Amino acid sequence: MKPKVLVTREVFDDVLDFLGQHFEVTANQEDRLLDAETLARQLAGKDGAVTTLTERIDQNLLSRCAKLKAVCNIAVGYNNIDVPACSTRGVMATNTPGVLDETTADFAWTLLLATARRLTEAEAWLRAGKWERWQLKQFLGRDVHHATLGIIGMGRIGQAVARRARGFDMNVLYYNRRRVAAEIEAACHATYAAKDELLARSDFVVLQVPYSPETHHLIGAAELKKMKPTAVLINVARGGVVDDAALVQALKDGTIAAAGLDVYENEPRLHPGFLELKNVVLAPHIASSSEATRHGMAMLAAKNLVAALTTGNPPNLLNPEAKSVRREG
Ligand code: DGY
Repeated sequence: MKPKVLVTREVFDDVLDFLGQHFEVTANQEDRLLDAETLARQLAGKDGAVTTLTERIDQNLLSRCAKLKAVCNIAVGYNNIDVPACSTRGVMATNTPGVLDETTADFAWTLLLATARRLTEAEAWLRAGKWERWQLKQFLGRDVHHATLGIIGMGRIGQAVARRARGFDMNVLYYNRRRVAAEIEAACHATYAAKDELLARSDFVVLQVPYSPETHHLIGAAELKKMKPTAVLINVARGGVVDDAALVQALKDGTIAAAGLDVYENEPRLHPGFLELKNVVLAPHIASSSEATRHGMAMLAAKNLVAALTTGNPPNLLNPEAKSVRREG
């Protein structure tokens, strides 16, 4: 008998076909959001799952899914999964690192440029039929070239953001928990700076850190005050890294000039203040959403699940300790 797996959200057809070669698959091609109770019922009796950031995999759920051996997230971020709880129960957890780095970095730049040059504000004005004549002072924006870019979080995506800055002749600063190797600094033409120094000196601050208790509200009222009043904040990392209420206030009172956001606290519900502001460019968590990359992410999650349930060695295992728990158990 084939192992039974659940795919919690819609995926590409060939990804389902691939999973179907190995498993008895329960799919959700209607893409319904599964509430906690429905998820628990559907996952009970399954050996594995392909999940997304819209499902919470926590103690309570795991306690109702005794057969579960692997949870394979279609995302590099995995703050929706209680990894220690998975480990305790011998459930392998995986993510999808690597495949989305360049696409996400492209989108950080999409937001940065659109915010600097007020693109969405200008387009909304034009679509509203307000353009009557060329004006010297129309939608004056900020120059990106030769400005200072500060990157907080110098992992693979942060580095990809930094590499792109060369084409704009920018001065690149970065802050990371641990300073990166000298070769990486050289390849990225990036200089390490303490967080406060980076905030004070940067014209553009790009956030690229995972969400965790340590990065919760990494940027709040105090940090925003340390930035230049002309500065622009870009968040393509995770909601919760920024204190949204503090950011709305800072954008309103001119503490910083503008923001470009792809992620939010409590998404998809936005802080209502954002919708009233012109100096913020808003995207619905689509930084990794190119056709090729989203397909690559889904296929990688499927491959992780196949490996987890056949060899026991998925390539992107987050909790190797889970395997010993199961062996001993
Ligand atoms: C990720 O991979 O963590 C992205 O946020 C999903 O879109």
